[in-house]
Amino acid sequence: MINLDEFTITEEALRRVGHTENPRLREIMISLIEHLHGFAREVKLTEQEWLEGVTFLTRTGQISDSVRQEMILLSDTLGLSQLVVAQSHSRPAEATEQTVFGPFHVEGAPNQPTHGADIARGALGEPLWVAARVVDATGKPVSGAVVDVWQADASGFYDVQNVNWQIDEARLRAVFKTDADGRFSFRSIMPVGYPIPSDGPVGEMMRATNRHSMRPAHIHFMIKQAGFDVLVTHVFVEGDEYLDSDAVFGVRSSCIGNYVRHEPGTAPDETWVVSPFYTLDYTFKLERND
Ligand code: BEZ
Ligand code: FE
Repeated sequence: MINLDEFTITEEALRRVGHTENPRLREIMISLIEHLHGFAREVKLTEQEWLEGVTFLTRTGQISDSVRQEMILLSDTLGLSQLVVAQSHSRPAEATEQTVFGPFHVEGAPNQPTHGADIARGALGEPLWVAARVVDATGKPVSGAVVDVWQADASGFYDVQNVNWQIDEARLRAVFKTDADGRFSFRSIMPVGYPIPSDGPVGEMMRATNRHSMRPAHIHFMIKQAGFDVLVTHVFVEGDEYLDSDAVFGVRSSCIGNYVRHEPGTAPDETWVVSPFYTLDYTFKLERND
């Protein structure tokens, strides 16, 4: 076909991918072309704007590596990641909600005893004791579940953001296994709100669209046990000023935890704390996948 105009070109592009053998790929390609062409027509995209968009995406790819996931960050900040999470987990009312995974999880974090580890490993911050339980939809304990935990330090940085970081320098991340009653507990520091990385193309996009880059304070959890959906979630801090405007749209009301402040005194592990400290008691509810 020749002499294609801005309308007939869509038909022709659709015809060319119409023979894709993999039916799912065919469906995705057809929809992608329809929406991309529709978008360009709707906003009457100019050649200069198209070039700026392509340059932006190129730079977003170029700054990405195994640690810096700028492409995922772009998806997160456009709401696409949370959209995909939400439509992939039609959650029964009892189960804990899923949220975005984020770029700062690391495989191979140190295994810690089920109770009592200090995962801060020297990171400064307000002391926090977490006592958590993993149950199924009927409230029965899920024992032997593997729980990955990770959080930012009091300045809002993950250990992995340090240049030349090695896994044996892991701080504020750990892996636990739940006990016979589905419980695990650890000591850490209070999470704080922090900005997503803003020194790259995504930061430029956030500033150009007059958005802030803050995430409300949270701790990440990923919980795995055979027979259950993997739960990827956060526990946010009740009252945080950014709960309503999380830069990556990740807040679910069932994931807001009650971090309780205590005056100096005896902590849950019977140690004496000279400064105010916090406790968090939280129950994760897993969804069966059979
Ligand atoms: C995070 O909470 O670690 C995070 C999630 C999405 C984008 C950036 C950071
Ligand atoms: Fe985070």
